[in-house]
Amino acid sequence: MKKTILTGIKPTGKIHLGNYIGAIKPALDLAKIPDYKAVYFVADSHGLTKIHTPNELRELSYGIAATWLALGLNPDKVIFYRQSDIPEIFELNWLLSCFTPKGLMNRAHAYKAIVDSNRESNKDIDFGVNMGLFNYPILMTADILMFKTEVVPVGKDQVQHVEIARDIAESFNHTYGETFLLPEYKIQEDTAVLPGLDGRKMSKSYNNTIPLFEEPKKLEKLINKIKTDSLPPEAPKDPDTSILFMIYKEFASPNEIAKMREEYAKGISWGEVKRELFNVMNHFIEEPREKYNELMASPSTIDKILQEGADKARSISAPFLKEIKRKIGFYA
Ligand code: ADP
Ligand code: TRP
Repeated sequence: MKKTILTGIKPTGKIHLGNYIGAIKPALDLAKIPDYKAVYFVADSHGLTKIHTPNELRELSYGIAATWLALGLNPDKVIFYRQSDIPEIFELNWLLSCFTPKGLMNRAHAYKAIVDSNRESNKDIDFGVNMGLFNYPILMTADILMFKTEVVPVGKDQVQHVEIARDIAESFNHTYGETFLLPEYKIQEDTAVLPGLDGRKMSKSYNNTIPLFEEPKKLEKLINKIKTDSLPPEAPKDPDTSILFMIYKEFASPNEIAKMREEYAKGISWGEVKRELFNVMNHFIEEPREKYNELMASPSTIDKILQEGADKARSISAPFLKEIKRKIGFYA
């Protein structure tokens, strides 16, 4: 039996290097492992907690789908869909919410962070919080449990959500007998969190990102903005604490990486490292960027692929939801 591996990305901004290194690249590698059945989706309903402009939500959702496809995700080999096309997930979301202690949601880090910041600025603690945002981890749990997921590849910031999914699954299983599999998270240990241009975590929310499919000129400019220390060019430098090297090794060949390590040890200027980083990165994304632009110009192509994926997904979610509803006592 193949293990199901599932992950989603929410359309709240353009895909950036952090998303690529922390989520997409590892997920693409995992999808190639024969032991895994990969289920990947565009988490558009999660995006709705934040994006309330239809055009923007639509564009960003297509952007996520086009990114996966441009980077080589093969929709014939994986199940690839748009979350909002699977109504069973939203039904399950409600059912699971009846097994989720409110306190568990109070402790979820995204909500807690907002509460803390509201408190600091003397606002009502729930200022700016909609119920979608508050209940976000339950919807994520439904995403995961619906497909009997065993492995969830995510960035470090999502670990708590996967643990919440386990808690909710256990609580349900305890009441109705074994129903859901308990998922495990899988994080990229060596690239846990990629810092952004200002040194904080690279994130759409901080406006400090390098978009993955940026055009060459802009890409070069952004790379030049990455913060470095003030060591002189000739000083030996430590690649393992260098953001530039962290990104470089995701795009360079093993030979180039080994050579760059030597250059660091010998002493290389940050300007030179940035130039090299731009070269390998731009070379790597040239083809996918073209594919991405093509797909973005043809939304109906993306729609067709996602619809086929949704059909496959629903052939799993519909019968499973029925089984769950029977267990709960909705019918015999
Ligand atoms: P953002 O913080 O930009 O809003 P998301 O929360 O939508 O990004 O994250 C999408 C995926 O990318 C998640 O699996 C997340 O853990 C991963 N990710 C986001 N930012 C980074 C980062 N800076 N480093 C590593 N992984 C990241
Ligand atoms: N919450 C995830 C994020 O912000 C996106 C997501 C939604 C997800 N549902 C998921 C990730 C299920 C993994 C599994 O990045």
